[in-house]
Amino acid sequence: MTALTDTATARIVPRHVAIVMDGNGRWAKARHLPRPAGHWQGLNATRRVVRLCHERGVEVLTLFAFSSENWRRPTWEVGILMELFVTALKRELTELVNRGVRLRFIGDRAAFSERLQRQIAEAEALTEANTRMQLVIAASYGGRWDIVQAAQRIAEAAKAGQIDPAAVDGACFEQYLSTAGLPDPDLLIRTGGEKRISNFLLWQLAYTEFFFSDSFWPDFDAAELDSAFESYAARQRRFGRTGDQVASRA
Ligand code: IPE
Ligand code: IPE
Ligand code: MG
Repeated sequence: MTALTDTATARIVPRHVAIVMDGNGRWAKARHLPRPAGHWQGLNATRRVVRLCHERGVEVLTLFAFSSENWRRPTWEVGILMELFVTALKRELTELVNRGVRLRFIGDRAAFSERLQRQIAEAEALTEANTRMQLVIAASYGGRWDIVQAAQRIAEAAKAGQIDPAAVDGACFEQYLSTAGLPDPDLLIRTGGEKRISNFLLWQLAYTEFFFSDSFWPDFDAAELDSAFESYAARQRRFGRTGDQVASRA
């Protein structure tokens, strides 16, 4: 809940940016290409945005790559997305290491193949000491899943006598979420034109600023990212206080 104590005026560059990378399928459809072509092109946009955020000084970038509900897609599309994750992890790791990026995965990773789970664990271990930027990949992730797994682990700890149920507050709860230790997102960007959360970081987005883009994810570029940052910088974050209170504290 660090955001509640942040300065009220948004910084020009948000500290933590979260992105719902949507619109790959429609990008492909508009070009009479199969949906996977959109996913592969989306990977290029992902690489571009990671580089840009790194250059702009973003501290944490969280990307929604695959939701709990995306398992409902046709088996062939899920299979292609899993293949894409494996290939992307292999191909991009060296650059991430060179850039000092720390990788962290959030989500129900037990749902992945053993091979992918192993690759994820290795990538996390390899980049563990990096401090320049944290790249958080939400895969097989759902905001509801996150809250439920936290509640389960808290219940287990209480049963084992390790925590007192009366002492469970927001700060304690956050330590059990998959994002433990990360600041809440300052800015959420969703591409693809839809204006919904689609079960992304439900708890963590409580006071996040939202920016919606009609561009499909493969088309999202530096100009769009900068306009999202400009829009963010012009906002007054009040966290429940009045505008006057916030202005006098700034
Ligand atoms: C986002 O693009 C990527 C994933 C959800 C894996 P979509 O595949 O949802 O693309 P649209 O929304 O169908 O265009
Ligand atoms: C949200 O996109 C999930 C990701 C971008 C990974 P979806 O395409 O799955 O969202 P809905 O189904 O349109 O809400
Ligand atoms: Mg979509």
